[in-house]
Amino acid sequence: MKISNRISVIVAGLVLALPVFAQQSGKDVYTKVCSTCHATGLAGAPRLGNGGDWAPRAARGVASLYQSALTGTPKGMPAKGGHMTLPDAEVKAAVDYMLGSVKDAVKAAKAEAEPKKEEAKKEEPKKAEARKEEPKKVEAKPAPAPVAAAPAAAPAPVASVAPTEVSAGDINSFNRLLKPASKRNLPPPEDGIHDPANDGTHALQPPLTAFGALPKSNAGNRVNWVEAIGQKKINPRYDRNDPKAEPIVMDLNIVREVKGSMPDVVYPHKQHTEWLDCSNCHPAIFVPQKGANAISMASILLGEKCGVCHGKVAFPVSECRNCHSKKKDIAKAPAPAAAAK
Ligand code: HEC
Ligand code: HEC
Ligand code: HEC
Ligand code: HEC
Repeated sequence: MKISNRISVIVAGLVLALPVFAQQSGKDVYTKVCSTCHATGLAGAPRLGNGGDWAPRAARGVASLYQSALTGTPKGMPAKGGHMTLPDAEVKAAVDYMLGSVKDAVKAAKAEAEPKKEEAKKEEPKKAEARKEEPKKVEAKPAPAPVAAAPAAAPAPVASVAPTEVSAGDINSFNRLLKPASKRNLPPPEDGIHDPANDGTHALQPPLTAFGALPKSNAGNRVNWVEAIGQKKINPRYDRNDPKAEPIVMDLNIVREVKGSMPDVVYPHKQHTEWLDCSNCHPAIFVPQKGANAISMASILLGEKCGVCHGKVAFPVSECRNCHSKKKDIAKAPAPAAAAK
């Protein structure tokens, strides 16, 4: 899929560059890029041809939708669908194409809202300008991986109170890999994360007790969290405010070929999207396009790319085979979970 995809994107790019084909290009761009998400409603994307999905958005005006498509939104729309090389005009044409697929529904909704009707497909910059807040909201940088931000921010106030060796501000201060066995999973008042002066801290269940019934791993806090969730031993709430929210699990493996003798890296979307929102990684940490991100072990060790989480809130870099799970060609070696899936 990947290679043919890329070729077709290039081909489409060449063809679409001719303004004569502007009308055609919207559909092509949609098919090549946008349909990944907008055909099925992946991650909550408004679906092609689904009036209910589009009408409330179209009501904000087409300029607002162009803006979202060009710069992305915090709720999962990547800027230009992750293909930053697309000319603005083609992205807009793809928006037009999707709006065209729900023309009638949008028209009906609009007629209801206000008597003045016009085809939603047509540009209405004036109307959109009246709603300046929308594009502005979109411009706000997507929250950079809340998961990782929490630990990074936490040590600061604590370090002054808790007598631990954790030094605030150090990128690896939360790296469990670096903790000697005797310092792992300390009770909350001693862990350097919770405030020991707060009574609530002492009421918390110590991790060693809490983790007792969970599947084990060899690193970090010694719990295999992927299995724990797979075996339904834990059932974490996906959204802090909404107990019924369900994750959008996406089963898409990305293989990153590694130069040299190390096995290739398999990045599994499934295990990640069971915990995380698309916007935790896209687009702040990774552009959603296979091969578009330069990832190296050095950057991971520095706490970037995969290292934003791995070594901090997910299994650490010591577990080479969890990531380097795809044998190059030689016969099968005992492959870790990720490769099998
Ligand atoms: C990786 C998935 C993905 C791809 C690829 C993608 N989108 Fe989206 N898109 C989304 C999601 C998720 C939303 C809903 C986000 C929201 O509500 O803010 C969305 C919303 C939108 C919206 C409505 C934004 C709004 O303000 O209501 C437009 C317009 C849009 N996408 C255009 C496009 C175009 C054009 C392309 C192709 C060039 C594209 N998208 C590719 C995921 C994607
Ligand atoms: C933990 C981080 C993470 C999360 C969460 C995540 N992704 Fe990704 N995604 C990646 C990485 C890494 C790549 C590969 C980038 C590369 O190869 O340079 C990728 C690639 C992609 C691609 C490109 C696929 C291709 O073949 O080109 C799409 C589309 C995508 N992600 C959509 C999503 C959607 C939709 C969600 C939420 C349901 C999501 N991602 C959640 C990390 C993540
Ligand atoms: C936003 C945080 C985040 C980022 C970025 C991230 N991961 Fe993860 N990853 C997790 C979490 C959380 C888990 C599940 C908990 C665990 O296994 O420690 C996980 C699990 C995994 C697993 C599953 C192992 C299994 O047991 O099935 C693999 C493999 C993996 N990550 C590889 C990667 C690679 C490779 C990258 C970079 C391309 C990456 N991750 C980037 C948070 C992240
Ligand atoms: C969290 C996932 C993860 C873990 C754990 C991990 N790696 Fe990597 N490794 C990667 C990714 C991603 C790349 C980049 C692949 C690429 O070029 O796209 C990489 C690349 C490499 C490379 C190629 C050179 C470079 O820096 O890009 C070597 C060698 C390597 N890893 C060795 C190791 C060893 C040894 C371990 C265990 C001590 C390890 N890795 C653990 C994800 C991981």
